[in-house]
Amino acid sequence: MNLPETATIIEVGPRDGLQNEANFVPTEQKVAFIQSLFNSGFREMEVTSFVSPKWVPQMSDAAEVMEYVSHYDKTIVLTPNQRGVEAALQAGAKSVAVFLGVSSTFNQKNINRTTEEALKGLHPVIKELKMQGIFVRACISTAFHCPYEGAVDPDDTLALCQAFYEMGVDELSVADTIGKATPKESFALFSKLKEELPGILLTAHFHDTRKMALANIYAALLAGINRFDSSAGGLGGCPFAPGASGNVATEDVVYMLHEMGIETGINLDSLVKSIDIIKPYVSRELSSWYYREHQKA
Ligand code: HMG
Ligand code: MG
Repeated sequence: MNLPETATIIEVGPRDGLQNEANFVPTEQKVAFIQSLFNSGFREMEVTSFVSPKWVPQMSDAAEVMEYVSHYDKTIVLTPNQRGVEAALQAGAKSVAVFLGVSSTFNQKNINRTTEEALKGLHPVIKELKMQGIFVRACISTAFHCPYEGAVDPDDTLALCQAFYEMGVDELSVADTIGKATPKESFALFSKLKEELPGILLTAHFHDTRKMALANIYAALLAGINRFDSSAGGLGGCPFAPGASGNVATEDVVYMLHEMGIETGINLDSLVKSIDIIKPYVSRELSSWYYREHQKA
């Protein structure tokens, strides 16, 4: 078995985790959550998104959040367009995540654009970001399955990844948006991407709707991936992907990796305290195994 000695966890709870919450989480609590997470050892984190507040009201305080957290190592902000990039840079962002699904129906629902239209729009945006020395991450949604179109052809996923690769992005975060992929699909896609796109940072982003995310992470590890997005407390979900549940819970991923001897640099006790901070403000039950066990202790 060829497993890595270390893995990088990109915490996406403050963004993916909170964007889908029923109620607006006060800015102060978001900032306290982010600060506590950074103090738990994370080095890369999606902290907010610069998107239309009409579409995603939960992220409407992106600029305020950045005032308090933009100085951390690698605060990543998500944005779909030029307007968002301008606001992100003004707020001090040094790492920007653009996002696009493989499936056009999903993109119409999520960003009101087809895949082709959005890709064309992002091309000059990415070029400009790279000229300014900004780290660019491209998040690829519906890489396996689409809530509207069903199974996605892996060749279409590869083609979209290839398009971003050729635009010069630094990282691809490849997502199972609705948590439907199997370990077999995870291994096959990540093996293919590793082979076809040498030199780029490849990250796996699993939602846990069908409780297969940990198995999918293990399959991705076997395919040579050692970067994983996850969300503290298992919060998360895309408001425009019906049926999607939260991201895989960070604490369960970190526990699994540590038990396998794969270091992450994250302190689990401190991570649990970070989840305690946000718990009173979220509507869903936090059902990760590790967090529940800790509550009992
Ligand atoms: P639209 O209505 O087609 O755009 O929305 P528009 O250009 O006509 O603009 C509409 C309004 O939004 C205008 O304001 C714009 O100025 C404003 P108005 O004139 O009506 O007052 N606007 C913005 N405001 C702030 N920041 C911006 C911005 N852009 C326009 N960047 C748009 C198109 C893309 C803006 C909209 O559809 C949108 O914001 N969508 C975001 C959806 C979203 O955030 N989804 C969740 C993130 S993706 C995800 O979770 C998946 C991921 O986790 C991976 C996975 O799991 O799959 C990454
Ligand atoms: Mg997601």
